[in-house]
Amino acid sequence: MEEQTSMYRIHGGSEITGSITCYGAKNFATKAMVASLLGEGVTRLCNVPPIGDVNLSLEMIQSLGVNIEHVNETEISIDPSSLSTSRVVLPEHRSNRIPVLLLGGLLHTFDEVVVPNVSGDKIGKRPIDFHTQALRQFGAEVEMGEDGYVARKTGRLQGTRLSLPYPSVGATENSLFLAVKAEGETIIENAAVEPEIMELITMLRGMGAIIFTGPGREIRVVGVSQLSGTFMHILGDRIEAASWASLACAADGEITVKGIRPETLGNFLSYFREVGGGFRLESEHSITFYRERELTPTSVTTDVYPGFSTDWQQPFAVLLTQADGTSLIHETVFDDRFGYLEALNTLGAETEVQTTCPERESCRFKGENYPHTAYIYGKTVLEANEKTIHIPDLRAGLAYIIAAAITEGAVYVTGVEEVERGYGDIVQKLQNVNLDIERV
Ligand code: EPU
Repeated sequence: MEEQTSMYRIHGGSEITGSITCYGAKNFATKAMVASLLGEGVTRLCNVPPIGDVNLSLEMIQSLGVNIEHVNETEISIDPSSLSTSRVVLPEHRSNRIPVLLLGGLLHTFDEVVVPNVSGDKIGKRPIDFHTQALRQFGAEVEMGEDGYVARKTGRLQGTRLSLPYPSVGATENSLFLAVKAEGETIIENAAVEPEIMELITMLRGMGAIIFTGPGREIRVVGVSQLSGTFMHILGDRIEAASWASLACAADGEITVKGIRPETLGNFLSYFREVGGGFRLESEHSITFYRERELTPTSVTTDVYPGFSTDWQQPFAVLLTQADGTSLIHETVFDDRFGYLEALNTLGAETEVQTTCPERESCRFKGENYPHTAYIYGKTVLEANEKTIHIPDLRAGLAYIIAAAITEGAVYVTGVEEVERGYGDIVQKLQNVNLDIERV
């Protein structure tokens, strides 16, 4: 664990107004870096977010012998020609999910890949069985060794037909990495189709991969023996954009969010409108969010794309504390993602988490005793009273900042390294919309 040394002091109640430019999507930038390792030439990535998770991924990839040049703060070039080892080591006890993807990303180049066993955010069990099953179907052997997971192959990986038990983002990405240079055709059934996956497919196509998508969740890949480098612009972060929308509406302010393609927000915009949020499309990459009327409660089920993203629910939950009546969030992607609500209750929110699915709805967690259904009873006045709350995971961190922004008085938020891992210099962005926040 990294030492938690800093905290935010947030004095809520100021009028939230201004504009914020979203960074490139964390959850695509790091995958694009892995994809670049599959090419024979240099890949240039622009709009790369200057955040901790990207730096960690870059360090990890660099330690494999890969040459990385920073063209400027948000543009890098990656030259994998000097890739010299396939033993992935995490720098300084920091961790993210990228090592799992390097199993697929490196196994074309090396006959053995070793990656550490990583956990990621504290939001559920997060097994990697779909990944290991996919690797096996392509002809690799996988086992858990002393240093983590070891994948081995003899000869070229073989295209296959695989059906993911659930449309996992990471397992779809790993399967794509394995399929693009495998021998023959691969069909991935029940694949994830998040916008970041579609961007990854575009990037791989740019490198020479042959990938066919259809209207459903099936992806067909015809393996090629070689890929080249490419150029890729990292799309704006739709999770970040939705968080600013929730902040604007919860605080009854107005934020113009730039650097985001509105279509990547999909159903979020409709849920937002339904609870009382308003927005204006300003340009192809810019949306202004505000509160249109008194907020009303709603029921949200998180789901894979195009459903309501599990990464949107935490800031949205804070918004729902300001709606008059009972709202419900049914989390069906991760099994334990409501731990953050407890601290919100200490500020005056009234929420309750249950292990059962809501009435007339069920999900794959039914009967599993997972705390995956949350009730939010509004409208509540949040009170700061100089309280300290600790960020348990990245997305919860932003929820806490929004909660602090709508309380009267000062709140101290600890564990800020977690939020900066995904959002970078968030203090500056928040000061730009007039939030009274400082890092102390
Ligand atoms: N799952 C398995 N076995 C597997 C893989 C996944 O059971 O082998 C389960 C997971 O436990 C989970 C569900 O499938 O219940 C979905 O997991 P998925 O694989 O889709 O998630 P991921 O690839 O690990 C990415 C993002 C998450 C985001 C999810 C869902 C990255 C680095 N992470 O995780 O982002 O919530 O997809 O969209 O891309 C975040 O950014 O804060 C974050 C957690």
